[in-house]
This record gives sequence, C-alpha cells and structure tokens, in this order.
Amino acid sequence: MLEQRTLGVFLEAVKKLDAGFAGLPALQGDAAGIERVAEVLNATAERLQDNYPYFHPLYAGQMLKPPHAVARLAYALAMWINPNNHALDGGRATSAMEKEAVAGISAMFGWKNFLGHLCGGGTMANLEALWVAGQLHPGKKILASEQAHYTHRRISGVLQLAFETVECDARGRMDVDALKESAARGDVGTVVATLGTTATGSVDPLPEILSLREKYGFRIHADAAYGGYFVLAENLQQDASQAFSRIEEADSIVIDPHKHGLQPYGCGCVLFRDPGVGRLYKHDSPYTYFSSAELHLGEISLECSRPGAAAAALWATQKLLPLSKGGEFAKGLERARKAALMLFEKVRADSRFAAAFAPELDIVVFAPRAGSVTASSVLTRKIFEAAAGHNLHLAVAELPIQFWEGNLEAMKRDRDTIACLRSVMMKPEHFDWVERIWDLLSASRQEVLGRSH
Ligand SMILES: Cc1ncc(COP(=O)(O)O)c(C=O)c1O
Repeated sequence: MLEQRTLGVFLEAVKKLDAGFAGLPALQGDAAGIERVAEVLNATAERLQDNYPYFHPLYAGQMLKPPHAVARLAYALAMWINPNNHALDGGRATSAMEKEAVAGISAMFGWKNFLGHLCGGGTMANLEALWVAGQLHPGKKILASEQAHYTHRRISGVLQLAFETVECDARGRMDVDALKESAARGDVGTVVATLGTTATGSVDPLPEILSLREKYGFRIHADAAYGGYFVLAENLQQDASQAFSRIEEADSIVIDPHKHGLQPYGCGCVLFRDPGVGRLYKHDSPYTYFSSAELHLGEISLECSRPGAAAAALWATQKLLPLSKGGEFAKGLERARKAALMLFEKVRADSRFAAAFAPELDIVVFAPRAGSVTASSVLTRKIFEAAAGHNLHLAVAELPIQFWEGNLEAMKRDRDTIACLRSVMMKPEHFDWVERIWDLLSASRQEVLGRSH
C-alpha cells in the first residue's frame, strides 16, 4: 500500500550518490548501533500509524495530497547530504536545482524574468510578498476577501500594515463592487487576489481586479497557494479560466508545491514579476556569501537555513512530470477536478443534501437537508463522525449561508453560517472512487438518521 517497491530504486540511487564521494578517506560506520536504530524506527512506524490515511482516496477531507514517490525518494536521498539552501556553501547542487525548479514554476505562469525562491510554505511565501508590498506602498492598506486565508490578516499584523477585508459574492469570490468602493478611498496599497480559496476553492475575479488596478494604482498579490497549478488545467469554467489566464499580470504570486505540486511539506514558493524588488532584501552577512559572486538564495529570501532536500524533491518531480498543459501532471489536476464535479452532481441531484455552488476547482461543499440551518449543522457533525467510522474522511467547514442561495429551500435560516461537509477531491485517484465515496456518505447519513428518513 505504501509503495514498498520504490525502496529498491532508492537503494540504487543511494549507491550512486555515495560513489560521488568515493575519493574521501573511509569513515568508521556506526554498525554497532544499527539494532537500536531498527528498534526505534519500528517504534516510530508504530506511532505514525496514528494518522488519518492521507494517501488513500477515501481520505477526502482537508488539503492533503501524498507526495509523488519520486519526491519522497529524492527528498530522502538528499538527506544523506542534508544541504542547506541558504548559501552556496551549504547547498551548491540543490541551490542550482532550486533555481531551475522555480524557473519552471515561473515559466508556467508566463514569467521569464522574475525574482523567486522556495520557502517553508504558503504562510512564509505570503509573508514575503506582503513584506515587499508594504515597503513599496508604505502606510497603505492590504485588502483581501473575507474568504482569503486568515494568514493575510495575521501577517499584516506582524508587519504592522493596516488590513481590511472585502466582502464576497454568493460563490465565495471577492465582490468587485465592494473592492471598488474601498479602492476609491485612495488608501489601498495592495489587493490580495485569492486564486483558489482555502474553504471552497473559489477564484477571485482577477480580470476585474486588474482593471481596478489601472484606475487606482494598487499592487496585486495573487495568493495561488492552493490553486496555482490549475493554470495548467483545461477543464475549468470560463470565469476561473480567465482569472488564471491573466495571473502573469499580478505583481507577485504565491504557490505551494506542498499542496497540489506533489511535494512533502516545507515547500512553498514566492515569485515577483519585477526582479528589481531584490534590492529590498539587501543585507550584509559576514558569515556567508563570500564563497562566490554567484547568487546565494539567502540573499533574496527572508528565511536563512532552508532544506535543500525540498529543492531536490521538486526538481525531480518536475523532471518526471513537466509543468505543461496536456501533460501527465496537468491531466492529474483535471481528473481531480472531474472527481469534484461528479461528486457535486451527485449531491445536487439528491434531495437528502443541499449543494452550494458548483466547484471552481476541486473542492465541494454541501450540507444535509434538515428543518433548519442549526439542525443541518448538527447533522453535519454526526455524518462526519459516522463517515469516519466507515474510513471515509471528510472535513467540516463553517460557511455563510449565502453560498447556498436558493438551495436551502424550506430550511429555516436561523443562523448566518452553516456547518457543512467539505470534501477536497485533490487526488487524481479520487476520480475512480467517487461512487464508493458517495455510497459511504449515503450509508453514513442513513446510519445517523435511521431508516425512517
Ligand atoms: C489560499 C491559501 N493561502 C495560504 C495558505 C497557507 O499555506 P501554508 O499552510 O502552506 O502555510 C493556505 C493553506 O491552506 C491557503 O489555502
């Protein structure tokens, strides 16, 4: 199940890596301790059993996608060296791999000249983007939609930048009229456009936001931590597709290879359209940067020590699965989206559930029908637990009832938000499991309500 057959390939690669250091005097191995290592490693495996089965298609809850085998193996291989991509002194090969892999991501968005690098994840990447934004528009506000990731408000707090939210429409996207009203006040420095919101995968209307930038002169930061790779998918609806087709006009972009990019955690990426923002990172280091005049990644990133292994994993993955439209990687995203659409259609056609809007990417949100929003919210939690009992793992989200528009029908609207079921269908394999997921979901609802309903 956990792809043990990849271990043979891995051993070959370890030997290959070892051969590169054959010229060094031999070292005494730690063979005596190996039994103890095995014992502790087995204990570790036992502890790790206490996890949801994230790698399995019946895990369809949060944004969790197993890294590709090549990413896992390349990461583990690099661990033999443990390179540090802060400086070339610490990670010569992996710094070069990072530059190549990041150039690949940047090219996917249509940028050849850019500044960018990997970092710990979406939070760190957004922090850098807003840090640059704050320096370029000092004293002005950061705006993001009500459905933007909470990190933007927190980051603005850390950076001591004023932050304001913009209302969303009934599909969880930034309301352009509300944005226009705020921008007209003249104190907006940067607008965060989320291309794939965390809760529902909604895509903010970037073309309209770009038009407002022309009039009001703010910066646009695209938080595509979740949705970024969908720029390659050719089965999006028109609005989302148009937003992705113009992402290259944003001033900065964040994308998380550790979400849809098949990478282990610890792999975010920030990109700036103007390489000139590199000047804002300028600092002196008496410890590093003297080994060569070439660019050390620490000169253009806020974090210092960073895992070179993350770069090796990403480089290997992109080598195997190039970031091109119509390619295997893109097809995987399209399959995930198809799976979400199939699940959405099942929910929509079934009177036991109330569907919110159609997914723009691959996240489906829906609620069980009940007499009231409160009763539905209670039922949601019960179904969530019953499903987990059948090994079907969904998530629960608290969302505005306006996302259901007319779909709540006779349900009494006794609350403004509803606790609903949320399913992130982000694995291509989900496509083959929709029927099974649906059957288990139906059985779980039946179990909670009893056969009379
Ligand atoms: C749109 C968006 N931005 C930012 C983040 C934060 O990213 P991370 O969890 O990698 O720090 C997330 C995480 O889900 C996200 O969905």
